[in-house]
Parts: sequence; C-alpha cells; structure tokens
Amino acid sequence: MSETRTTPQDITAGVVASFDDCEDPRLREIMQALARHLHDFAREVRLTQGEWTDAVRILTDTGHITDDRRQEFILWSDSMGLSMLVDALANPLPEGATESTVLGPFYVPGSPPREYGGNIAEEAGAGTPAWVFGRVIDADGNPIAGAELDVWQNGENQLYAVQDPEAEEDHLRGVFRTREDGTYAFVAVRPTPYTIPHDGPVGRMLQATGRHPWRPAHIHMIVRAPGFHTLTTHIFDAESDWLDSDAVFAVKPSLVRHFERRAADDADRPDGVEGEWYSVESDFVLVPQSSNGAGG
Ligand code: BEZ
Ligand code: FE
Repeated sequence: MSETRTTPQDITAGVVASFDDCEDPRLREIMQALARHLHDFAREVRLTQGEWTDAVRILTDTGHITDDRRQEFILWSDSMGLSMLVDALANPLPEGATESTVLGPFYVPGSPPREYGGNIAEEAGAGTPAWVFGRVIDADGNPIAGAELDVWQNGENQLYAVQDPEAEEDHLRGVFRTREDGTYAFVAVRPTPYTIPHDGPVGRMLQATGRHPWRPAHIHMIVRAPGFHTLTTHIFDAESDWLDSDAVFAVKPSLVRHFERRAADDADRPDGVEGEWYSVESDFVLVPQSSNGAGG
C-alpha cells in the first residue's frame, strides 16, 4: 500500500473517470460535467457536513411536497433562473422575433376553443375587462392566418382557475385562432401580480435569503402555427409592481405592454363589457421552422 494521501482533487478525478466508459457520449458529457461542477461548488463554498445534511433535508422536503398539482422541483429551477436560462439556450430567436419566456406550472392543456373577440372570464368579478388584440405575423410582417393562441391568466383574486377550487375549470383560459389577416382579439381581465407558491422549501429559501415571491402582472400564451416554431410567452403589464424583480426572472423588456384605460362610453367597447375597461395591443412575430434561429 502506498503512503500517498488522498486529496479532494483525487476524489473528484475518480468520480469523473467513473463515467469514462459510458457508451452514450451525451450522457457521459453531462455526468462528468455535473460531477466536476458539483465538486467545484462544494470546494468553492467549503461545504460543511451540517450544510450537506440541510441540503439533503431540503431535497427530501421538495420531493414530499411535489405531486400531480404541485411541482416544487420546477419551482426551484424557476426561482434559480435555470428555467429561463434553458429556454434562452433552446430558443436563440433572431432579431425581430417575439421573445419567449417561462411556461410556468399553471398551464393546463385542453382549454376551450373560443370565437374571435370571446371572453375568457367565465365568472363575474374576475377583474377589470381588458381587450387584448393584435396580429400574428412572420418576420417580414406577413399575416399568419389560422395561428392558435392558447391563453391563460389569473384573476383579481391572484389565482389561476387550476389553483382555485371554487372556479370553473375553463375560467380565464381559452384557445383563439387568427383570422385571414393574422388578427386575433379576446376579452381578458387586467392581470394582477401574484406570489409563486411559497409555503414550501422554495418559499423558505426566499425568506432566508431576503428575496420575495412576487411575479409582476402578466397574461400567458402559447402561439402555434403550422410551419413555425411554437412560441411560449407572456404579455407583461407596464404599470405592474415587481417588473424589476420577478421571482422567476421571466421579464424581458420587449414583452412589456401598456394597458390603455378606456371609458365606459368608449364607442369601441366590446360586446358584453360594462363599466371601465382597458385595451392592450400585442403582435407576435413567429420564426419559420426552416430557420435555424430557434428551437421549439
Ligand atoms: C407563472 O407565471 O404562472 C409561474 C411561472 C413560474 C413559477 C410560478 C408561476
Ligand atoms: Fe403566471
């Protein structure tokens, strides 16, 4: 037996080498880089055994709170900006294309198809109506007819329908199609800032580090059209609080829009809308699938 002492570097080298014979080159690359970065992280912060035990407990709590309706692992990814980074790496959109942002945990597939100009609020008292309109176009400004806008948002009570046991399943969500000239329009409500779920491990991290759980007001949409990359994005309200410190780092300045206040007697008032209302215009510029400039 040699008298040579085993160093921390020897331990890392042994773990990295343990993946040398992995036959899948991508898996080998990921596991070796993960081992190197994980070990470098522990070395850099001089991770103590107590902190290691805390980390195991936090991961265990994360697993315990996660179920079909609550995904605390994704919330870690969101709150550490990893979701936004992975999205940015996967969607290097060319200049002029509408930017993407996080999907979030409140998207539920299967929203009801609705007519041009239809209202996504199925219940009264969801908030102040907002006429959301614009066009879906390509980078040259040509209209994209028949594009699908899959829309969801929260109400004045800060909740998405999927979070609210009192709400109709299809409240504040719907699927719209653009007309021949690429235009779309629907009645939503002016969105409200809300907190990401913060009664679990991520919330405890935010509290311990002096961060807040708020997201600025936004409306979500996924825009799909045959022959184009699917776009997952938001419209952010320019007057919202928290635009500068979104808990999930999802604000991109190009996605911020002004909600214009409209009078009750405004001649353009949409059918079925009463009292004060807002309008907001947002075009979506899609990238053809033939372009190398985007994933998705
Ligand atoms: C959302 O906007 O719905 C969302 C995104 C990330 C984490 C929590 C909520
Ligand atoms: Fe949201």
